[in-house]
Amino acid sequence: MNRRIVIGGAVVALGIAGLAAAWLGGVLSPSATVDPARHRSPTGEVPPSPQRPGDPAAGYRALVNEPYVSCGMPYEAWRRLAPETDPADLLPGREGRNAELPYFLTAHVNADGVEVVSNNCLVCHAARLGDEVVVGLGDAFADFTGDARGLVTRVGQYVRGPAQTAAWQHWADRIEGIAPHIRTGTIGMNPATNLSWALMAHRDPATMAWSATPLIEPPPERPVPLRTPPWWWMGKKNAMFYTTIGRGDHSRYMVFASLLCADTVDELRGIDAYGPDIRAFLESLAPPAFPGPIDAERAAEGRAVFEARCASCHGTHGESPTYPNLVIPLDEIGTDPLYAEWMTDGSLDRFYDWIERSPHGGTVRAAPAEGYIAPPLDGIWAVAPYLHNGSVPSLAALLDSRLRPRYWRHVAPRDYDTEAMGWRHEVLEAGKDAATDPAERARIYDTTLPGYDNGGHLFGDALSDRQRRAVLEYLKSL
Ligand code: HEC
Ligand code: HEC
Repeated sequence: MNRRIVIGGAVVALGIAGLAAAWLGGVLSPSATVDPARHRSPTGEVPPSPQRPGDPAAGYRALVNEPYVSCGMPYEAWRRLAPETDPADLLPGREGRNAELPYFLTAHVNADGVEVVSNNCLVCHAARLGDEVVVGLGDAFADFTGDARGLVTRVGQYVRGPAQTAAWQHWADRIEGIAPHIRTGTIGMNPATNLSWALMAHRDPATMAWSATPLIEPPPERPVPLRTPPWWWMGKKNAMFYTTIGRGDHSRYMVFASLLCADTVDELRGIDAYGPDIRAFLESLAPPAFPGPIDAERAAEGRAVFEARCASCHGTHGESPTYPNLVIPLDEIGTDPLYAEWMTDGSLDRFYDWIERSPHGGTVRAAPAEGYIAPPLDGIWAVAPYLHNGSVPSLAALLDSRLRPRYWRHVAPRDYDTEAMGWRHEVLEAGKDAATDPAERARIYDTTLPGYDNGGHLFGDALSDRQRRAVLEYLKSL
């Protein structure tokens, strides 16, 4: 089985609320109207919010062992599809059955005694870099271009007996509800935001009960293309996500990753009890060190350029780092506006309302800004492709817009070019339209499509070649 298409338990952490009333011709009781202004943030500085304290070591243990996604594939059926685990996919600190599972799956025994395996956060938030699985690195090769129901059917063939069938059916029903909304157009692009909205559409926020028919209008089918950000930036960021929509208690947004299967408020509360530990673990993560040599003299020159030209937005790094937590408005940053516009144009307010009415309402507030956060640049060498939509395949091209390809695709096997700082890729003559084979189309990054634009952020263009080379050298050291 291709492990990249296991999306069983996924979900993310997003949040929010809106006006459910109009849909289904008033079948629903009108929700208490939340002031839309509550669901917008100004651009500029993002203020901090109080966080519950947590224990990083307990957080790692929970992250790789706890069944926060509690429905999934019966273990025996899954093993028929994937008889062997690649030893390179094993992680330390995993207990019981988990010790033999690939990093992106977690096992537990359900109330009927069936052993079930589900995707955990690491299906999106870990990836192999060189010989190692790096926890916290977004997976630039995660493939969500297929129909998730295909896996459900394949697992279904091997399900035996009534208890396994019931477990499989429970998971299959959830996937049925979300599958139409999480199919991306390009490998590496992540549908997590749409996935969260789709789950909220099927759950009553007060009781967490699942409804096969949506209770509020589901999100549009095609997700906006997004690159998964690395976790180690969270130690500096005052709000979660590219548009800083995630205000308030960050661990509660993370726990929304359980919405696929948590059917009661009690289950959600149980998971919420270790949410602060997971948050503390994420914030304790250090980025992977650059694997090659760094020219110290050139990097020192680059640091001076960086501090003069880049630090006002990205902060400073090193001994006593600073970070200003700034959202830059769309017209100033100039990168693809689609995601931030969609978040703030009112069309998602019903989901922002949902969050407000959920058990976490009051401690989390969904309030995107019409712009993008200037992220900390720690470990930036490793997080290609760049920008929120992953439209620029290397750091060299991010700092010199003449080098940004219009059409490109990653080449297999995955191999990181540490000089250009990006996964090896090839530049193409034509975009998706020219490809007839659907598998080939899915591999092509086509910057002419909505949401995929690679323009904007031209700050590197203003540098001389020498300054640019120096900044690139300095960025290796962050
Ligand atoms: C289906 C893939 C997927 C899964 C599963 C997933 N995430 Fe995410 N996560 C994303 C994407 C994509 C984003 C970026 C969304 C955005 O910024 O708008 C994100 C953003 C985040 C962020 C914010 C990072 C930042 O810099 O703002 C955190 C923290 C996070 N996820 C934690 C988790 C945790 C903890 C879990 C499991 C409980 C989880 N995620 C499960 C895809 C996923
Ligand atoms: C006016 C503020 C501003 C300045 C000045 C600025 N940046 Fe940025 N930078 C941003 C914002 C905002 C983003 C996120 C844009 C997006 O994701 O669409 C970003 C993104 C980036 C990224 C990609 C991050 C990612 O998520 O992939 C890198 C690398 C970067 N900047 C480096 C630099 C360097 C080097 C300089 C100086 C030459 C610089 N920036 C100057 C605001 C700024």
